[in-house]
Amino acid sequence: MELPYAEPYKIKMVEQIKRSTKEQRLKWIKQAHYNLFNLSSDKVFIDLLTDSGTGAMSDKQWAEMMVGDESYAGSLSFKKLKKTVKKITGFKYFLPTHQGRAAENVLFSALVKQGNIIPGNSHFDTTKGHIEFRKATAVDCTIDEAFDTSIIHPFKGNVDLNKLEKVFKKYPKEKIPFVIVTITCNSAGGQPVSIQNIKEVSKLCKEYEILLYFDAARFAENAYFIKKRELGYQDKTIKEIAKEFFSYGDGMTMSAKKDGLVNMGGFIALNSKEVFKQATVFNIMFEGFITYGGMNGRDMGALAVGLNESTEFNYLESRVEQVAYLGNKLVEFGVPVQQPFGGHAIFLDANKFVPTIPREEYRAQALAIELYIVGGIRSVEIGTVLADRDPVTRENRYPELELVRLAIPRRTYTNNHMDYIAATLKNIYDTRKDAKSGYVIVEEAPIMRHFTAKYKKI
Ligand code: F0G
Repeated sequence: MELPYAEPYKIKMVEQIKRSTKEQRLKWIKQAHYNLFNLSSDKVFIDLLTDSGTGAMSDKQWAEMMVGDESYAGSLSFKKLKKTVKKITGFKYFLPTHQGRAAENVLFSALVKQGNIIPGNSHFDTTKGHIEFRKATAVDCTIDEAFDTSIIHPFKGNVDLNKLEKVFKKYPKEKIPFVIVTITCNSAGGQPVSIQNIKEVSKLCKEYEILLYFDAARFAENAYFIKKRELGYQDKTIKEIAKEFFSYGDGMTMSAKKDGLVNMGGFIALNSKEVFKQATVFNIMFEGFITYGGMNGRDMGALAVGLNESTEFNYLESRVEQVAYLGNKLVEFGVPVQQPFGGHAIFLDANKFVPTIPREEYRAQALAIELYIVGGIRSVEIGTVLADRDPVTRENRYPELELVRLAIPRRTYTNNHMDYIAATLKNIYDTRKDAKSGYVIVEEAPIMRHFTAKYKKI
């Protein structure tokens, strides 16, 4: 008999999670104004809101916490982290920040001006938020295949070179401070970008004298997909692959809460001394002195260890294949999900799941709420609510995809939890024809409304 797959770790500490009844959840979600962000965590059984900062650290990371150096300046934990970032990314300069959006804030303060254009594959919402906050425009140049959830394409996060070149031709280079490529592409469904594509984007950027930055929150998962799917990379290590794709760019922002395997943290790494100098000023102003940038010494130490662990094949195999385990169960039940499966999450296609709910009534949000009510599972809407209003017309923007994201925290849940999630969704899917109406927003913030919006059931 062929031996089945088993995780390359065992559990040293457990955290209790609470079950609840459907009646309780109906009451709680109403009290939360039907916004899943408003639920307290003890009212959630399985929390798939995000894979950001919600994973489990290893014994070696916890050990590193104990020797964290909390010195304001010249912390030894900073030195450990700086050395590791250099080793893994190859970038010369490094600035710690308290999380990914802080890295965006610091770097964009140095580089983005009013009226600028920042092309890339689908920008994550905080990235777009930081661009639009500066009255600049993010242009999505993702390949068209990404917007059809049933097309099988190995690298749906790829940048469409024709779309990118059109932007380069339309605007003078002074208006385009950089291109940002998000690896893996969260907003396109956790889909990877191929090395071939990164190389071609890099070549085009050089031709037009435009910088190339990575939003590298899930770079290790991206490297895993390259190893599994791209010709010529099967025999390379994850660390070799990451080093190679980073070599085609000028720098990166990082939310360490993902592939840094820590609960809080981020950084900027780049090659230009000039940009580093400019960013340093904003880092000190917004984040803290350059040897801590909003992070504790112990967290910088844990991040140094985390970056080494997340770029190990065995860890990535258990991580990405657990996500696929859930995806395969859902496919077996006929539930419409984005394919191929993303690295950190499974995305339900709400347009196919509940087409009976009008788009104006936020069908993906309605599905996410149902998943909570039926199973106590917290997910997140990646659809019209997240797409927010057009900054000029203030009309709702209707994205091509209406998704519900089931983000799987790293090293946190077992495959029994995956079975429970799949069964809950099967039950909802079997009764989908009863879903006729959704929600209206009764209160919302002017930017990034999804975090605090209040809804009413129609
Ligand atoms: N870039 C990407 C691709 C992200 O997914 C995130 C966060 C950020 C930047 C911002 O980083 O949260 O550390 O400030 N994504 C989380 C998520 C919130 O749930 O996908 P942050």
